[in-house]
Amino acid sequence: MNLPFAESYKIKMVEPIKRSTREERERWIKEAKYNLFNLRSDQVYIDLLTDSGTGAMSDRQWSQMMLGDESYAGASSYFKMKSAIQKIFGYEYFLPTHQGRAAENVLFSVLVKEGDVVPGNSHFDTTKGHIEYRKAKAVDCTIDEAFDTELLHPYKGNVDLNKLETVLKSVPSEKIPFIIITVTCNSSGGQPVSMENLKAIRKMADQYGKMVIYDAARFAENAYFIKMREKGYENKTIKEIVAEMFSYADAMTMSSKKDAIVNMGGFIAMHNEELFHKASVFNIMFEGYITYGGMSGRDMNALAQGLDEGTEFETLETRIKQVEYLGGRLEEFGIPFQKPVGGHAIFVDAKKILPNLPKEQFIAQTLGIELYIEAGIRGVEIGTLLADRDPVSRENRYPALEFLRLAIPRRVYTNNHMDVVAVALKNVFDKRAEITKGYEIIYEAPIMRHFTVELKKI
Ligand code: F0G
Repeated sequence: MNLPFAESYKIKMVEPIKRSTREERERWIKEAKYNLFNLRSDQVYIDLLTDSGTGAMSDRQWSQMMLGDESYAGASSYFKMKSAIQKIFGYEYFLPTHQGRAAENVLFSVLVKEGDVVPGNSHFDTTKGHIEYRKAKAVDCTIDEAFDTELLHPYKGNVDLNKLETVLKSVPSEKIPFIIITVTCNSSGGQPVSMENLKAIRKMADQYGKMVIYDAARFAENAYFIKMREKGYENKTIKEIVAEMFSYADAMTMSSKKDAIVNMGGFIAMHNEELFHKASVFNIMFEGYITYGGMSGRDMNALAQGLDEGTEFETLETRIKQVEYLGGRLEEFGIPFQKPVGGHAIFVDAKKILPNLPKEQFIAQTLGIELYIEAGIRGVEIGTLLADRDPVSRENRYPALEFLRLAIPRRVYTNNHMDVVAVALKNVFDKRAEITKGYEIIYEAPIMRHFTVELKKI
């Protein structure tokens, strides 16, 4: 008999979590104005709000924390991080930032101007926010297959090269500062971009004289999928695949809270010295001196160690197999979600579950609230609330898909927790015909409203 699969680690430290009653949860979510971000963490039993900054560090990362050098300038921790970045991504220059959106803020302060157009594959919300805040436009060039959740396409993060070329041809060249590629593509469901597509984007960018920048938060998960799915990569190591991926990009922004498995941190890395100097000015203004950029020395040490561990095959295999495990349980119950399963989360197809709920009543948010009330499980809406209003017309934007994302923190929960999630969602699914009313907004912020929105039951 073949031995079953098991995690590539054992557990040295635990953190208690508590169940609650349905009555408590009904009260808490009402007090939270039906915004899952407003819940206190002790009101949540299993927290799948995000996989960002919520992972468990290893013993080796914690030991690196003790060796952190907190010197203001030229700390050894900075050089440790620099050498990890050079080794893994091949970039000569880098700037630490306190997280991913800070990296976007610094780099886009140099590159994005009013009236610009930035093509890419389903830009993440902070990326889009930083583009739109500068009165520029993000154009989504993701392949159409990504928007059919039942279609089994291996690279639903891919860019449609025809869509990209249309943008490059129709917009004046000086208005396109760069192309941004998110690996894996969070917004389409943690879906990978193939090496073939990355190569083709590079070629087209060269043809039109454009920079390619990767939004690299989950780069290692992307490399794992390339190894598992793309011909010619099955015998390469994750580190070899990562090196090839980044050989096709000029620069990267990184939220280290994902694949570098730290609780806080980010960076920008690039080949171009002039770009580095320009970005340094904004880094000093917004983040901190160029050798710490909003991070403590100990955090830079843990990040350097995390980049190495996060690009080990065993780490990625354990992680993605857990996401697949939850997907398998949901499949058994007939619950619709984005297929194939992505790298960091299950994206439940809320429109298919609640087809009669009007889109104006926030379909995925309604499903998320029901799941919370059912079992204290917190997911996040990737739908109309997140899509926000059009910056010019101020009309609501209704995305093609309404997802409830269940993001799985790295090395935190066991498959028993995944069983609870699956059964809780099944219970909601079985009652779906009774869910006929959604929510309306009573307060919203002018940009990135989903974080602080307040809702009322209809
Ligand atoms: N890019 C991608 C693809 C992301 O998923 C995120 C964050 C960021 C950039 C911004 O990084 O949070 O460090 O400032 N995603 C989190 C999530 C918040 O839940 O998916 P940050």
